[in-house]
Formats: sequence, structure tokens, C-alpha cells
Amino acid sequence: MVITFFHISLIFLSFVSALEACPKCGSLDVPYPLSTNDNCGDPKYKIYCNNGSLEFLSAQGFYYKILSIDPRSYKLIIRPPSIQNPTCYSSDLSLGGLLLDDNSPFNISTRNTVMLFNCSDTILLSPLNCSSNSICKLFEEKAVEGSGCRSTLCCSFLKDASITSHRIRVRMGGCTAYTSVVELRPDAPFDSWNYGIELQWAPPSHDFYFRGH
Ligand SMILES: *[C@@H]1O[C@H](CO)[C@@H](O)[C@H](O)[C@H]1NC(C)=O
Ligand SMILES: *[C@@H]1O[C@H](CO)[C@@H](O)[C@H](O)[C@H]1NC(C)=O
Ligand SMILES: *[C@@H]1O[C@H](CO)[C@@H](O)[C@H](O)[C@H]1NC(C)=O
Ligand SMILES: *[C@@H]1O[C@H](CO)[C@@H](O)[C@H](O)[C@H]1NC(C)=O
Repeated sequence: MVITFFHISLIFLSFVSALEACPKCGSLDVPYPLSTNDNCGDPKYKIYCNNGSLEFLSAQGFYYKILSIDPRSYKLIIRPPSIQNPTCYSSDLSLGGLLLDDNSPFNISTRNTVMLFNCSDTILLSPLNCSSNSICKLFEEKAVEGSGCRSTLCCSFLKDASITSHRIRVRMGGCTAYTSVVELRPDAPFDSWNYGIELQWAPPSHDFYFRGH
């Protein structure tokens, strides 16, 4: 009896939740559980609608523009911070790069190829690809945004499960800039790169439970 009631509550919750998606922000839908205000979505999945632009707030207080959302795979893509020409500094450098709270339902997915620029020599001890034919060299040479980073020591790596999924770190004396490409195929031409940092979220537990049945 208790279990049945519990089930019904869960189904009801899921149903109500579906009705509680937030209104569009600019041209983007805001699917449940993402929440732009207290009256819709699930507050654990807080994002921001600032002047018609959807934004993700890092644990350090930096706003990243949300480029796209795929609710079916629980993923969204944020725009990498700009690299401020003529320097090789990411705009979130003073905050240490992208940091997600450990308790956040979001993490950095394993489909991101991250490139770090203007790194100090100590990076060479790491297992990253810092060779002269690393794809980060292409970005330095071909992207206008990367021109401030030209001929610095740069490295690339797939943000897979062996690397922390809650931060991309930059700092003075380490690497001072980064970018990321989602689902980079080895033979993809440079101008087809899909710049972004893909985040995924853990589905709300009741939603997950409901879908699981
Ligand atoms: C809000 O967006 C409009 C159109 O994109 C832009 O012209 C305006 O400067 C923005 N305002 C602020 C405060 O960012
Ligand atoms: C680094 O990346 C390049 C380009 O993808 C590849 O050809 C090379 O084998 C990689 N080197 C190492 C040490 O992984
Ligand atoms: C590279 O980083 C160092 C500090 O680690 C900084 O002093 C230097 O200005 C940076 N280079 C560029 C081109 O931004
Ligand atoms: C990131 O979050 C997803 C969804 O909760 C989870 O399945 C995945 O294992 C997490 N990835 C890492 C590397 O922790």
C-alpha cells in the first residue's frame, strides 16, 4: 500500500514536472529540469536567463553562454570563454578557469577535446598531448582568437573519465588559456570544429525512476 502510494506520487511528480518547464529564453527552450526562476523547473538545475541569453554560472561566479541543450541526453553545451587578443588569457583566467561545484548535478562530459595554451614546461610531465603536431597547434595558427597564443607551449587531451570532470584549470604560471571542441573527429577539417564545452546533468531522481519503468 505504501509502495503503491509512493509510485503514484512519483508518477504525479513527473507529470507535474513536465508541465513546469520554464518559458523560453530568447530563442532557446528551457526544458525541465533546467530552471531559470523559482516557479519552474527544478531549483537544483539553476541556469540564468540574462537579457534573452541563457547562461550557466560556474562555482566561481563566471557566466558561460549556453549554446544548445539536448534534454533527451541530459546535455548542454556552453561557449568556451573568449581568449583576449593580443594576450593568451582566457576571460575566466583570474577565476582559475571553469569550476563546477562538487555537489552540482552537472559535470563535464567525456566528449570534450580540451586544448590548453601558454603552458609552463611542467605540463610536459603530464600525459597530455603537447607534441608539435598536437591539434592545439592548428588553433594557434588558424583561429583569429588563438593568434595571441601563437608559438606558446600548448597541449590537447580528451576529457575522459580518467580526468576530473568538475574543472578545466588555467592559472598564471600554468596554462593561461583554453578552448574545447565537442566530439572532435581526427580527420575533421578545422573550420568544422564544434567549439563548446559539453556538460551533462544527472536526471532528477523521480524523473529517472519514472523513466526506468
Ligand atoms: C541586451 O541585448 C540587446 C540585444 O542583443 C543588446 O542590444 C543590449 O545591449 C543588451 N543589454 C545588456 C544590458 O546587456
Ligand atoms: C598527438 O596528436 C597528434 C594529432 O592528433 C597525433 O598525430 C600524435 O600521434 C599525438 N601524439 C601523442 C604523443 O599522443
Ligand atoms: C603566458 O603566461 C605567462 C605567465 O604564466 C604570462 O606572463 C605571459 O604574458 C603569457 N603569454 C601571453 C602571450 O599571454
Ligand atoms: C557525470 O554525470 C553523469 C550523470 O550523472 C554520470 O553518469 C557520469 O558518470 C559522470 N561522469 C563522471 C566522469 O563523473
